[in-house]
Formats: sequence, structure tokens, C-alpha cells
Amino acid sequence: MKRFALALLVSIAGTPALAQDLIASGRYQAVLGDCAGCHTAPGGEPLAGGTILETPFGKIAVPNITPDRETGLGRWSEADFRRAMREGISPGGKRLYPAMPYPAYARMPDADIAALWAYLKTAQPVRHAVEPNLLPFPYNIRALMVGWNWLHPSPAGFTPVPGKTAEWNRGAYLVTGPGHCGACHTAKTFLGADRAAALTGASLQGWFAPEITGAKPHGIGNWSADDIVTYLKSGWNVHAAAAGPMVEVVENSTSQMRDADLRAIAVYLKDQPAGSGAQPVAKLPAADPAMRAGTKLYQDNCVGCHGWDGKGEAQIFPPLAGNAILLQPSAESLTRVVLEGAQSAGTKSAPTAPAMPSFAWKLDDGEVAALLTYIRNDWGNAAAPVSAASVAKIRANLHGH
Ligand code: HEC
Ligand code: HEC
Ligand code: HEC
Repeated sequence: MKRFALALLVSIAGTPALAQDLIASGRYQAVLGDCAGCHTAPGGEPLAGGTILETPFGKIAVPNITPDRETGLGRWSEADFRRAMREGISPGGKRLYPAMPYPAYARMPDADIAALWAYLKTAQPVRHAVEPNLLPFPYNIRALMVGWNWLHPSPAGFTPVPGKTAEWNRGAYLVTGPGHCGACHTAKTFLGADRAAALTGASLQGWFAPEITGAKPHGIGNWSADDIVTYLKSGWNVHAAAAGPMVEVVENSTSQMRDADLRAIAVYLKDQPAGSGAQPVAKLPAADPAMRAGTKLYQDNCVGCHGWDGKGEAQIFPPLAGNAILLQPSAESLTRVVLEGAQSAGTKSAPTAPAMPSFAWKLDDGEVAALLTYIRNDWGNAAAPVSAASVAKIRANLHGH
């Protein structure tokens, strides 16, 4: 990122003030849309692509969007760019897969897309050819996307909801538009389109993006607007710590959003209706064999940090009692965190993040299942038991185990 910032400074220095405003505004649009989150590969040059995304249909490579003329967007016009962002169509009629969240970006107004384009043109051009198509048949046939686009037309901009405040509508715009929160938090149909119940939680390749509506206790209905702002700014609050893909969203995007925008997101999320999926679950009795085995394992492995009462330690160890991540119908994220460990976001407001150790080497599938079943059903928590088979499936997909 440093080199990128430097290149930007140099190019801004020779640019008139109005253009500088446009570029600065475009830079913020790139933060809102988290372009770097996908288009900058880990350890790679900024925006030069190469990340391989796992999708339900297979692997998709993320292209180079630096202004390089041969391998990036150097030959594109602003109109080409607008069409890709709105309709998912690149020059030459190439249909983009919705792994690029253009159905959400379609809500961005022309002025913001123009600013984003002005900003992208100031990026350092990087020669980096990305092999575009790794999908298995039949999904590798881009022409199929014509049918997809026909079934799922992109929204025509963003329409504010009358009767809601300007702040609520700004939040609605950010969440459903550039922030594309539903790309992970909304369940998909088998064709990869959003299901109706927005933001009620979804699996993504071994993680579970939880319900983030105003539902209690499995949504974020028990979080204050301040709690939501703190989490999006730092990856932490008194209720939870971000892990996995959400860490990247916080680092690349939400931690750099303006406070007023984070607050607008919080106001909108808290007002979203609960999904019908997460019905109240009966708490498992303490005498259940899995509960008894789990209690013992918790004592031996977890108590030192998360505490007997499951309350953790403010800003150091997240609570497990009442933590909505534990109450999701799917235990995928929990299983990942216990097997692999987790490191929360390193951001300006909380630069050093404590880590959760990995237990994959120490606990077998049955033990992890009992432990997770236990922490999902003590301290007032109640959620479905976890099976050894589901742990085995997630363990098999981890790298290096
Ligand atoms: C969730 C991951 C993701 C995010 C976030 C994302 N993109 Fe993409 N983008 C992709 C993928 C994947 C493709 C390639 C799709 C394909 O091959 O059909 C793509 C393609 C593109 C293309 C077409 C490039 C070409 O050569 O045809 C452009 C332009 C683009 N993205 C710009 C952006 C901008 C600007 C942002 C931020 C506002 C952004 N993307 C955010 C994943 C992402
Ligand atoms: C790349 C996928 C992805 C995107 C995009 C994404 N999230 Fe998340 N989010 C997750 C995952 C996975 C978790 C669970 C993290 C964990 O296990 O700690 C999560 C957790 C959260 C939580 C904490 C919920 C809880 O109960 O602990 C909030 C709040 C949240 N996301 C808000 C957002 C908002 C707002 C956006 C859009 C600006 C967003 N997310 C975009 C994947 C994503
Ligand atoms: C050395 C201290 C330590 C120990 C021991 C420990 N944890 Fe953690 N745990 C953490 C930290 C720190 C985090 C936050 C990591 C992050 O930022 O995502 C965490 C996160 C978690 C989370 C995710 C919470 C959330 O909000 O996303 C779960 C679930 C969890 N731990 C369960 C366990 C279990 C079960 C054990 C015992 C097998 C255990 N932990 C042992 C420190 C610890």
C-alpha cells in the first residue's frame, strides 16, 4: 500500500485542485466498495489482481484493474468502466460473473463512478496478466451470463425509501450499494442470486457470515449503534471479535469509512427485520453426554482466556456468553476459529490484535464437536448441537492440516 500512496501523492501534486477533489472522492469510493479487498492479491501489487476467489461454482481469478494498457484497464473509457460497474459487461461484450459485485455497484450514482474512475487512472500501472477463467464446465461459458443477467437485471440506481430519515437511507445505500454487505451476509439461490431475506446469514466456503439484522439474540439487535460503529472501525466490541473474511472487510474498507457513514450503516442494520430461518432452539440439558464432555474440554483448554462465566475480558478476549456468532444455525465460523485460531483486524483504532490459538493439532473432531456443542448451550446460549462429521468436513478443507 505504501508504494501506492506515494504514487498517488506524486500524481496528485501535478493536478489542479478540482481534479484532486475528484480523485480524493474516488479514493473514498474505492474504500466504500472494498476494491482492494479482491483486486489486490495478498502480497501482490495494489489493484493488480491475481487473487483466486472460491465461489459455489468454482474458482474465479480476479483481474488486474490498474491502468496498464496491455493487462489492465489502460485502454478503457469511462463509459466502458461505467458499463462494467452497472451491467457487468466489459468492452467486447464480455459478461462478468457476479463474483464481481456489480449488481450492488449498480446502485452507485454516475458522479461517484466517475470519481472512482478518475482515482483508478492515478493508480500505478502494473503489468500483470491474470488467467481469467478457472471455472469448471458449464459455468466457464460466459455466454451463460446473458441468461443470468436477464433473470437478474441490475437495479437502476438507488431509490431512497420515503418516510425514512436521510441517515437511514444513506445506510441503506451503503449496505446494498458500494458496501455490498449482502454479497456475504445474504444467502444465495443455486444460481448465485440473492435470496429474498436480506442479511439473514449465509455460508461462504467454510465460514458463516452471520445474521446482521436487528434480530435478538442471533442478529445484532442487542448491539447499540455505537457497538456496531466500534466493531466496523476496529473489528472488536464488547460483544464479539471479527475473524476470517470479516477481518479483511474491516481492514480494507469499514475501518477507513467516515464515522457518519458507519453510524448510518448501524441505523439501517438495526432496523432490518429478522429472518424466518433462525427459530428459537431448545437449550441442550447439562446432563447431555456431549455437554459433559464439552464442559471438561472447556475447563482444560479455554477457561484461562474466555472465563468460567464465558464473559471473556473486555477488549482482550471476546465473550462467548450471548455472542451472536455462537448462536447461528451454522457452526462453520466457530469450527474454523477453534481449529485454525484467529487474529483480529489490525486497524488504526486498535493496532495490535490479540490472537486466539489454534487447536487443530490438539483436539480431534469429536472433541471439537463436544466443545462447540457446549459453548453454544451454556451461559444462556442455545443453539443446535455440532456433529463430529461437520467438524471433519471443515478440517479436511483447511490448508496445512
Ligand atoms: C468480492 C470481490 C470483488 C470486489 C470487492 C470487487 N471486484 Fe471487481 N472483479 C471481481 C472479479 C472476480 C472479477 C472478474 C469477473 C469475471 O471474470 O467475470 C472482477 C472484474 C472487475 C472488472 C472488469 C475487468 C475486466 O478486465 O473485465 C472491473 C473494471 C472491476 N472488477 C472493478 C472493480 C472496482 C472498481 C471495485 C471496487 C468498487 C471492484 N471491482 C470490487 C471481484 C471483485
Ligand atoms: C467477504 C464476506 C463479507 C462481507 C463483504 C461482509 N461481511 Fe460481515 N462478516 C463476514 C463473516 C464471515 C463474519 C463472521 C466473522 C466471525 O466469525 O467473527 C462477519 C461478521 C460481521 C458482523 C459481526 C456479527 C456478529 O454477530 O458478531 C457484522 C456487524 C458485520 N459482519 C457487518 C458487515 C457489514 C456492515 C458489511 C458491509 C459493509 C459486511 N459485514 C460485509 C463476512 C463478510
Ligand atoms: C490464549 C487465549 C485464548 C484461549 C486459550 C482460547 N481463546 Fe478463543 N479467542 C481468543 C481471542 C483473542 C479471540 C478473538 C480472536 C479474533 O480476533 O477473532 C478468540 C475468539 C474465539 C471465538 C470467536 C468469538 C468471536 O466473537 O468471533 C470462539 C468461538 C472462541 N474463541 C472459542 C474458544 C474455545 C472453544 C477455546 C478452547 C478450545 C478458546 N477459544 C481458547 C483467545 C483465546
